[in-house]
Parts: sequence; C-alpha cells; structure tokens
Amino acid sequence: MAEDMLDFNVKQEEICVDTGRKLKVGIIGTGWIAGSHIAQYLQMPDVEIVAGADLVEGKAEAFFEKWGVKGIRCYPDHKTMLDGETELDAVSICTYNAAHAECTIYALEKGVHVLLEKPMCVTAEEAMAIMKAEKKSGKIVSVGFQPRMDPNMIKLKEIVRSGVLGKIYYIQTGGGRRRGIPTPYGTSFIGKDTGVIGAMGDIGCYSLDMVLNAVGYPRPLTVTGYTSDFFGKNPKYFEAEGKPEEYAQVFGVEDFAAGFIRLEGGIILDFRIAWAMHLDTPGDTVIMGTEGSVRVPSTECWNGSIGGPMKIYHEVAGSPVCTEIPMAESDGKNFYRKIRSFINAVKEGGPAPVPTSQILYNQMIIDGIVRSAKTGKELVLEIPEL
Ligand SMILES: NC(=O)c1ccc[n+]([C@@H]2O[C@H](COP(=O)([O-])OP(=O)(O)OC[C@H]3O[C@@H](n4cnc5c(N)ncnc54)[C@H](O)[C@@H]3O)[C@@H](O)[C@H]2O)c1
Repeated sequence: MAEDMLDFNVKQEEICVDTGRKLKVGIIGTGWIAGSHIAQYLQMPDVEIVAGADLVEGKAEAFFEKWGVKGIRCYPDHKTMLDGETELDAVSICTYNAAHAECTIYALEKGVHVLLEKPMCVTAEEAMAIMKAEKKSGKIVSVGFQPRMDPNMIKLKEIVRSGVLGKIYYIQTGGGRRRGIPTPYGTSFIGKDTGVIGAMGDIGCYSLDMVLNAVGYPRPLTVTGYTSDFFGKNPKYFEAEGKPEEYAQVFGVEDFAAGFIRLEGGIILDFRIAWAMHLDTPGDTVIMGTEGSVRVPSTECWNGSIGGPMKIYHEVAGSPVCTEIPMAESDGKNFYRKIRSFINAVKEGGPAPVPTSQILYNQMIIDGIVRSAKTGKELVLEIPEL
C-alpha cells in the first residue's frame, strides 16, 4: 500500500499536474540543503520560485544565479521576504536549526504553507509553538524527513504493521560516524547559536524517525539522557581533519548522545548517536516483538539507506529461523518525493506528509535528552493542550 503511495506521488507529477495556476514558492536560507530544494522545484511545472532570502549579503543572489534561475526577488532575511511577498503560497525553510521555529511561525502568521527542514526545531517548547501557529493559520507544515520516502524504510514500517513481530516491547536505534562532525561550509552545525543541538539534530532525528514511524509514533513518556562533546571540544580533532583548530572553541553542541526512553504502549527505546567515536558503530537498529524481531544493519546515518539486508528472527513450527528481506535499490528520488508530496498536500488542502503532530515526539525526545543530561535525572515528559 505504501509503495502505491510512492507511485502516486510520482504519477501526480508526471501525469495529473495541473499547471493552470503555478504555486508561488520562496526559499529561506540559501546554504547547502537549499540546493536540493531548488533542484526538485525546478522539475515541477506547477511550481514557480519567486523569492529567496539569506542573512549573508549577496548569498541568495549568487545561489539563484548558480542555479540559472532569473528574476528572483532576494531579501536579507525571512521577515523582509515574508513582509514583501504578499502572494506566496509556500516556503522552504532551509536555515540552520536555531532559526527554524522563528521562520516557520512568521511564515504561518503570513498565511504561507511551510516545508521545514529537519530537525523540526531545537526545543520541545519551540515545537509546540510551531504547532499552535500551524493550527491557528490553517496552513500546513511538513518536516523534511526524506528517508521516510525510501523503499527500505517503507518496508520496515510494513514489516511492523504486518504483525509478524507481534507486540513490540524493545527498540534499539541510532548509529553514527567514527569521524564525521559536519563542517563542510563553516560552523553552522556546531555553533551553540546556530546548530544548538548537534549529532541529535543532524542525524539522530533520522534514527528516531525511522523507528518511531515504523511503530506508529507512540508518545514518549520519560527520558533519561546523556550528552558529551569530547571530540568537538578537542582542537586536535579539527587539526587532523584539516579544519581550523578554532572550531573547537566554536563547538557548542553534543557530538554524542544517548537516551533511554519509555514510550506509550510499554515500549522501551534505547537510542545513541555519534558524530565521532572510537568505535565502528554503536550498534544496529533492532525492533523486538513477542513473535519476532527485526535487525536493520547500522549505517553512518539513516538517510534513506540501510547498511545491508534487514533480517527477521522468528519461529516456524517451533523452530527458530531467520528471514532475510532483500534490499530495495534506491532510485535517488527521495528528495523529490519529500517536496512533491508537500506540494501535493498544499494543492489538495493537506494533510502534511510528515506532520508536526508526529515530529513533536521526535523533538520531545531530543529535548528530554538535553535536559536530562543537564540535571542527571530521568524526566517525565508533559504535553500541554495545544
Ligand atoms: N534533509 C536533509 O537531508 C538535510 C541535509 C543537510 C542539512 N539539513 C538541514 O538543513 C538545515 C540547513 O543546513 P545547511 O547545511 O543548508 O546549512 P547552511 O549553514 O549551509 O545554510 C543555512 C543558511 O541559512 C541562512 N539563514 C539563517 N537564518 C536565516 C534567516 N532568518 N533568514 C534567511 N536566511 C537565514 C544562513 O545565512 C545560511 O546561509 C539544517 O537545519 C540541517 O539540519 C537537512
């Protein structure tokens, strides 16, 4: 059924796109990930990019020039863009993490639909503020988790939903890199004022989304968390990577995090994520159930790829057996599907393909780990009426 959905998304573009009225779209933040947004929008005959904004002088202009798109109105920040553009239907928010909530809420207040890059934001409080603004505006916010559109991730969800695992009671997820603190274009991922959260916001949120989406996004109830920054704070790390040693002083986020989370429905979630570590992997993803368990081989980042075929451990006529699920080849269209499914939802009046109501729980876990790590205590997670 889910694969049909993928076909549907692609067919929508290929066959039934109504180009009578083009959606007017803007891009806020024209750094690295904005390139993947514009590349997809440019394939859509029913979308017209009309505006862009970036805090760095001349960056938005240079971005659109590089992509060969002419006549785009460029602005020095999200506010001036959203104040100046009165006909926008939707925006892609591609800023660093710290600006996600502010830009999203402002866009919603201006009556504009939002495709928001992951992580949703940096705190649970911000996530709730986004949801309130979304509700008030009647517009949609979809969060940029393109791995969800990958056939292997869809298969994992189908395995759980088929019932073959029985009742799920334990999940282990996460992963990471031996050396992989991201500083490709500067320090926006590692700065306290720009990234705010580190490995969790960059790659940990993908692991969480993979398993939470597979089991139906149960609500998190309690969190015990740990964070550290032993690699990022060490100038030798950056020296060895050929990066300025000063990055160690800028480093203000976590390069490793772990959490032990109780989820609704009696499920325990054991999570760990690393940007850097003296280890090949902190473990595969496993989802354990009363009738069977599934193992998903580890990768550096669950960005729509898996580290090998998934295996289901179960019983047949009382004998323990293992069934290997053949890996699906990625067709490289996950980013396209992320953006196409958002545009389809805008045109059809929703719902958002990756809704804030789910990603709130992802953000609450990250936020809970940060807060629990500071206090050294388990936290009970509360969700006020939104
Ligand atoms: N979905 C994915 O696969 C994926 C991949 C990489 C990054 N991301 C996410 O995308 C976001 C951006 O990452 P990046 O690598 O492009 O960062 P980047 O630092 O290259 O670009 C961010 C840009 O946003 C601009 N900006 C910040 N606040 C702004 C504001 N108020 N108005 C206008 N512009 C503003 C900055 O000046 C900067 O140019 C991050 O949150 C990251 O987690 C997602």
